Amino acid sequence: MPFPYVLLSAAVSLDGCLDDTGPDRLLLSSPADFDRVDEVRASVDAILVGAGTIRADNPRLLVNSPERRAAREAAGRPAYPLKVTVSGSGDLDPTARFWHTGGEKVVYTTDRGAQRLHATPVAADVVPLGTELDWRRLLAHLYEVRGVRRLMVEGGGRIHTQLLQQGLADELQLVLAPLFVGDPKAPRLFGPGGYQGGRLRLLETRRIEDVVLMRYEPTAPGAGLLDSAADHHWLALACELAAQCPPSRTAFSVGAVVVAADGTELARGHSREGGDSVVHAEEAALAKIDADDPRLSAATVYSSLEPCAHRASRPAPCARLILAAGVRRVVTAWREPDTFVVAADGSGMLEAAGADVVVLPEYEERAKAPNRHLPA
Ligand SMILES: NC(=O)c1ccc[n+]([C@@H]2O[C@H](COP(=O)([O-])OP(=O)(O)OC[C@H]3O[C@@H](n4cnc5c(N)ncnc54)[C@H](OP(=O)(O)O)[C@@H]3O)[C@@H](O)[C@H]2O)c1
Ligand SMILES: [Zn+2]
Repeated sequence: MPFPYVLLSAAVSLDGCLDDTGPDRLLLSSPADFDRVDEVRASVDAILVGAGTIRADNPRLLVNSPERRAAREAAGRPAYPLKVTVSGSGDLDPTARFWHTGGEKVVYTTDRGAQRLHATPVAADVVPLGTELDWRRLLAHLYEVRGVRRLMVEGGGRIHTQLLQQGLADELQLVLAPLFVGDPKAPRLFGPGGYQGGRLRLLETRRIEDVVLMRYEPTAPGAGLLDSAADHHWLALACELAAQCPPSRTAFSVGAVVVAADGTELARGHSREGGDSVVHAEEAALAKIDADDPRLSAATVYSSLEPCAHRASRPAPCARLILAAGVRRVVTAWREPDTFVVAADGSGMLEAAGADVVVLPEYEERAKAPNRHLPA
């Protein structure tokens, strides 16, 4: 079941609070960081907040820059991202700004909440998800019915905690503000409970005036968890890397990750990375691993597109490079079409040499997305 790419965004005090308990919203970020948030909002298809945040902050959640809205429209997207909220109770104030600003809105709720919203309607689509709210169903609905591929989650803490604990977050953008709240009743960013994976991977740190932005990627569920959960995590990452390739009219945009059997990432790569105009994703990733690394024989290569079996630009195609590295398992989203090579069959080459090839077609759309401009 495909889900959108889920990006959690929050600003937090040095003592881990999202807000104080006063009537007004505590401003944690700096003006330049609010502009960065505006830019992230402009890049997504939907923004989600919990009902608690609507009640506490009465936010508008808009793309404020007219230039960014115009750029969205020029690209054929709505000026404002879809606004999404989540409420079990259905206790939502119909006069809140959320409903009366920006573009389309949707509320995910329970059957009980939907009844209440029937009596006190809000200006939004109401989607009941049963007796309990199920995040996987919610994300699948956003993906399939609303076409959301990138979702920004702007809190509050109860929402962030659940998405991280259920292994559904792809990225965390955290802004650390240089102040203390000090109130034991103030809402915290993350609550207690079981978190998946181990240490998060630090992707970036950036100073923005007096706050620090930290971007993290939750690591995949390691050994011990279902293989299929790990496969989904890593293939989604490969598809995300594909979207980072410099565009080309003459080659695919592909992302690849090499992962050891215990869930350790060994390397990642994408097409044309580092200024090499012909390098392929799997080739770039494998080149970063010591050829004698004993973990390669039980590793998996995740590649958004099936590894190539023929290529003019280098002596060995990626299927050969994978076999030569000793890897015997490949997971991919998309079989190679006849765009550049007729009847490409990297999977056949891998399987003939005894490797397992798993295709997860539910990721095909994501793998294709950065290749839409190429002839079919
Ligand atoms: N600093 C920041 O970046 C930032 C960002 C956002 C928010 N905040 C702060 O965070 C605070 C609000 O956070 P919060 O944790 O109280 O609220 P929240 O996470 O915004 O919303 C919680 C509400 O969402 C609904 N909900 C969440 N999970 C659910 C589930 N599994 N099933 C059913 N309903 C579910 C429930 O709504 P119902 O009660 O309607 O059932 C719940 O009360 C505010 O003080 C706000 O200022 C700060
Ligand atoms: Zn290749």
